Amino acid sequence: MCGIVGYIGDKNATDILLNGLESLEYRGYDSAGISVLSGGHILLCKERGRLSNLREKVAATDISGNIGIGHTRWATHGAPTQINAHPHANKAGDIVVVHNGIIENYEVLREELKNEGYEFISETDTEVVPHLIDYYYNGDLREAVTKTISRLIGSYALCVISSREDGKIVVAREGSPLIIGLGKGENFIASDIPAVLSYTKDFYLLNDGDVAVITENSVDITDKNGAPSPKDIYHVDYSAEDATKGDYEHFMLKEIFEQPAAIKRTLIGRIDENLQIDPVEMNKEFFEKVDRLYIVACGTAYHAGLVGKRAIETLAGIPVEVDLASEFRYRGPLISEKTGVILISQSGETADTLAALRLAHTYGSPVLSITNVVGSSVARESDYVFYTYAGPEIAVASTKAYTTQLVALYLTAVAAAEITKKTPQNLLDFFKKEILSLPEKVTEVLNLNDDVKKLAERIYKELDVYFLGRGLDYSVALEASLKMKEISYIHSDTYASGEIKHGPIALIDDGTVTIAIITDKQISGKTLSNMKEVIARGAFTVGFASPDCEDCEKTFDVYFKLPKSSPLLAPVAAIVPLQLLAYHVSCLKGCDVDKPRNLAKSVTVE
Ligand code: M6R
Repeated sequence: MCGIVGYIGDKNATDILLNGLESLEYRGYDSAGISVLSGGHILLCKERGRLSNLREKVAATDISGNIGIGHTRWATHGAPTQINAHPHANKAGDIVVVHNGIIENYEVLREELKNEGYEFISETDTEVVPHLIDYYYNGDLREAVTKTISRLIGSYALCVISSREDGKIVVAREGSPLIIGLGKGENFIASDIPAVLSYTKDFYLLNDGDVAVITENSVDITDKNGAPSPKDIYHVDYSAEDATKGDYEHFMLKEIFEQPAAIKRTLIGRIDENLQIDPVEMNKEFFEKVDRLYIVACGTAYHAGLVGKRAIETLAGIPVEVDLASEFRYRGPLISEKTGVILISQSGETADTLAALRLAHTYGSPVLSITNVVGSSVARESDYVFYTYAGPEIAVASTKAYTTQLVALYLTAVAAAEITKKTPQNLLDFFKKEILSLPEKVTEVLNLNDDVKKLAERIYKELDVYFLGRGLDYSVALEASLKMKEISYIHSDTYASGEIKHGPIALIDDGTVTIAIITDKQISGKTLSNMKEVIARGAFTVGFASPDCEDCEKTFDVYFKLPKSSPLLAPVAAIVPLQLLAYHVSCLKGCDVDKPRNLAKSVTVE
C-alpha cells in the first residue's frame, strides 16, 4: 500500500526521493520520510501528514547526500504519527529501513528482541527489521538482511541503508512489489515504476525471495536460495507525462476523459476491422482447457467480473462463478484442472487477488489474468495474461481500468464463444462490431459532463444516495455506488431493483436520492415499476437510461439518455456519467478526489 523510493548515484538523493514520493503519494499518504547517507552518516527526516509537510521540514533541515531511501505510508500497525512514519532505525541510528507490507510475526520478534535488550519506540511492525539487521550484522549487510528476512513471516518490500557499509542499498522482496531502475552511474529503487520514470525507462522487476545489493554501478540480485538471479531488462514505453495530470485539475477527471483512447488501446492487436481476433493475444488456448470458470477480483475489478460472467455465459455458454478474492481464498473453492480461473486486477499487486492466484495453482487450475500493469506479480505468475493497456491509473478511484477491464472481458467472451460455438457467427460478428464502436459511445456520453455537474450541485449535500438496477444494470449500480462512497464519503447503497420492496424501501423518505440505471428494454418496465414505488414514498429520482426507454422521461425527476447499445455492452457507456457524478460531488464537497481518506491505490495487504 505504501510507496518506496531509493536512489544511489552522483545526484542529490533528497530531490529524487521527494519527487518520487510525490508520484507515489496515491499509494499511501498519512506520513512520509526520507533518510540519506552523507559523509558516512545517516540523516533522517520524517513527518506526519501529506508529503508537503515533509518537504517543508526537509527544506528547513538541509538534508542532502548521494544515497537515500524514502517512504510514504498508509498506516497498518500504529496510528499515522511522526514516530510511526518510516524510515525506522536501530538504536544507534546507523541502520535504516523502509518497508511496504506486513510482518505478521512482529509481536513474537519484538518480544525476542526486547529480551536481547533492544528498545522499541514505535508501534509499527516494521521496527523489528532494523533491530534484527543490527542483531545479525557481522560485517556484511547483505548477509544480515538475508538472515533477517529468513525470520519474517508476512509480506515485505524492504530497502536498507547503513553507515556501516557506505555506497550500497540492500533491498529484498516478498509479496510486495519492488523494481530497480537502471541508470548510468546511478540506480533507482521504487515500489512502482512512475516514481522514477523521469530518470529511466529500463527496469529489473524483482521476484519474491530476491535480495539485491545496489551500488551506483552495479545491481547484484540473488534468489531465495542465494543463487544468482539474473533478470531481463524490462523497458517501459510510456512516458513520465502519461503519469501526470496535464491540464486536468485531477487525475480522476483526466482518466475519465482518457477512456475512449484507453479502450482503443485495449482493442488494438486483439481484433481487426475485419472482425478477426488474434488467437494468441486472446488466449484461446486457455478456453480449450476448461469447462467452467471462476472470475476472482476485488473492488471495482470484481464489479467488472460480474459483467464478464454475463458476457461469457451468454456468448460462450460456459458457466461462470464470480467471487471476491478475499472470500475465494478462504472458501475452499470447488475447482480442478478443468476449472479456469480469471483474475482481474488493475495493479496486478492486490494481496488477496495474488493469494487467490496461488491457491488456484495448487488445484492445478489454469489462470488467465486481466491486468493493466505489465510485469506485475499477478501477470508474472499467471499462465495467460490479457493486458488492458489503459496506461497508468493514478487516481485511487478506478475509472479507465474498469471500462478497459469490461472490454477485455467482452473480447475474452468472444474468444471463448469461437471455441464453444454456442453463438451463431452472425450474432458474434454483431457483438464484435459493437465492441469496436465502444470508444465512440464513451466519447458521446462524456458530453453529458455539464449536465451531470448540475445534478451534482443538487445532491452533494445529501447524506445517503441509493442506486438501483436489474441484471447488468445492477452490476453498474454497484460500481457507481462504490465510486460515490469512496471519493465523496456520502453513504451509498445499491440494490437489485426487485429487492427494494423486501426491506430497503423502509429507508426511502421525502427527497431520498435514488438513482436508477436502465439499459435493457426487456426489463426496463420492471425497474420503472420499482422506481414508481420509491417515488410514491417521496424519493428524488434520477434515471440513466437507454434512449428506447419510453416512460423514462416522465418517470424521473432528472433523466439522462445513454447511447443506444446492445444491453450486454451497455455497462461501458453507462458507468461514465456516474463516474463523473461521483467526481463532481467529491469536488463540490471539497474532498481530496485523487487521494480519498483511508484508501490507497493498490492494496498489498490482506
Ligand atoms: O488493483 P486492483 O484492480 O486489484 O484493485 C482492486 C481494488 O482495490 C480497486 O478496484 C478499488 O476498489 C478501487 N479503489 C475502486 O475505485
